[in-house]
Amino acid sequence: MRIDKMLANLGYGSRKDVKKLLKNGSVTINEVAVKDGKQHVDPENDIVLIHGEQVEYKEYIYLMMNKPQGVISATEDTRHETVIDILEAEDVVFSPFPVGRLDKDTEGLLLLTNDGQLSHKLLSPKRHVPKTYFAVINAEVTEEDQEAFKKGVILDDGYETKPAILKILKSGLTSDIELTITEGKFHQVKRMFEAVGKRVMYLKRMSMGPLELDPSLELGEYRELTDEELELLLSYES
Ligand code: URA
Repeated sequence: MRIDKMLANLGYGSRKDVKKLLKNGSVTINEVAVKDGKQHVDPENDIVLIHGEQVEYKEYIYLMMNKPQGVISATEDTRHETVIDILEAEDVVFSPFPVGRLDKDTEGLLLLTNDGQLSHKLLSPKRHVPKTYFAVINAEVTEEDQEAFKKGVILDDGYETKPAILKILKSGLTSDIELTITEGKFHQVKRMFEAVGKRVMYLKRMSMGPLELDPSLELGEYRELTDEELELLLSYES
């Protein structure tokens, strides 16, 4: 790979900025200063320093976001702010995309990556990756609802959902619940409650497969996955 491309990919500015860095002798490959952007570099094995600091090359990025309400899970949108718009430029250069969708008014765990293979694995309907949501419901959630969700309910388009686990955390005029589903139909949680005559007032995704939302992430905050989280995800077989 060309050194100028590698540095631009890593977020060291535009090709022009990178050219300047190279020109003023700030960049070395294996202790030799390089001024020519065309110089070839092996990102895995060569040691690249900028101003004496080692550059860490990575191909993939894996981010965990606590998605806030009001932003959409897409890479681009003409009218609304997207989850990509709230990333730092140094992360956007990797061209991450959200793994699956959360509604505009849904909060919680969203994985963003540029690793298409992992995304495919997590989203494949054949894999039945469990996703757990916390929700506030506008009515009393009952044991009958638990039974209905366990069997599968019929959505408004006639689709019968796969068995889902409904935990009632608090039941009353409004209820707090946790629902684990293994599929990802459009507005699925909301439509499942509509199927039993109730409405989701608040929805937050807590986990996806082995990945759990970090409770220290404020809404709109994100961080890279830890090595342990990444290892769990990459080796995950549902
Ligand atoms: N189910 C929904 O209804 N909305 C979401 O955002 C996710 C799951």
